[in-house]
Amino acid sequence: MAAWSWRNGATKMKIGVIGAGGIGGTIGTLWAKAGHEVFFSSRNPEQLSNLITGENTQAGTVAEAAAFADVILLACYYTTINEAISAAGSLDGKILIDATNPYERENGKLHRVPDVSSGLELAAKLPNTKVVKAYNTLPTATFANEAHRSEPYTVFYCGDDAEAKAILAQLIIESGFIGMDTGNLTQAIHQEPGGVLYNRPMLANEAQQLVTSLI
Ligand SMILES: NC(=O)c1ccc[n+]([C@@H]2O[C@H](COP(=O)([O-])OP(=O)(O)OC[C@H]3O[C@@H](n4cnc5c(N)ncnc54)[C@H](OP(=O)(O)O)[C@@H]3O)[C@@H](O)[C@H]2O)c1
Repeated sequence: MAAWSWRNGATKMKIGVIGAGGIGGTIGTLWAKAGHEVFFSSRNPEQLSNLITGENTQAGTVAEAAAFADVILLACYYTTINEAISAAGSLDGKILIDATNPYERENGKLHRVPDVSSGLELAAKLPNTKVVKAYNTLPTATFANEAHRSEPYTVFYCGDDAEAKAILAQLIIESGFIGMDTGNLTQAIHQEPGGVLYNRPMLANEAQQLVTSLI
């Protein structure tokens, strides 16, 4: 991990956001406020001017964000993952935080894609990338309105790479939440729609009890 340095006791990261919509824009902005360098991306980067809030934020193409970053937040629709990672180019050696949920739209309604974990699918597609799963269990509004509570809400995360998870845990704290490690990436299924950790704002005690019951 070359491009990070210690600053005021925190780690300054170069972060690329692929899918800078509701969830990507919100989490990326929280990280930028914490002092990280955040590169938001879009297929139409000129439409991201609302996210350029200071000198540590910039916008460009998906490929530019991927090349810039050591850590990628993937927050596009499940159905556009292939297109997004193909546009990104090589993600080898990088940390990819998967915030996607496996939904697809049918007859105007969102449906959970059965028997699929988007986190595990991504890891299979990107064997040289450190895929971790986080920021997918709570609604955008909770991230936007409840960051930095005195009793922070829990962001569940999982993954197979210890260093990637340590960096992610720090990023979760700096975004104003508390991280709860649920284990290796096979645990992603508990965080995704239909899983017991999905869509439930929880304080750390309740979250810990629930995670312990899963092991
Ligand atoms: N909504 C929530 O409360 C919430 C909470 C947690 C997790 N999530 C998950 O986060 C993901 C995004 O949800 P959202 O609500 O943030 O959606 P959103 O606001 O509609 O944003 C979707 C983003 O995906 C990007 N995108 C679409 N097609 C793309 C492609 N082919 N290549 C690259 N980027 C592409 C769009 O970028 P362009 O500018 O290029 O169009 C847009 O920024 C979904 O998987 C969702 O399940 C959502």
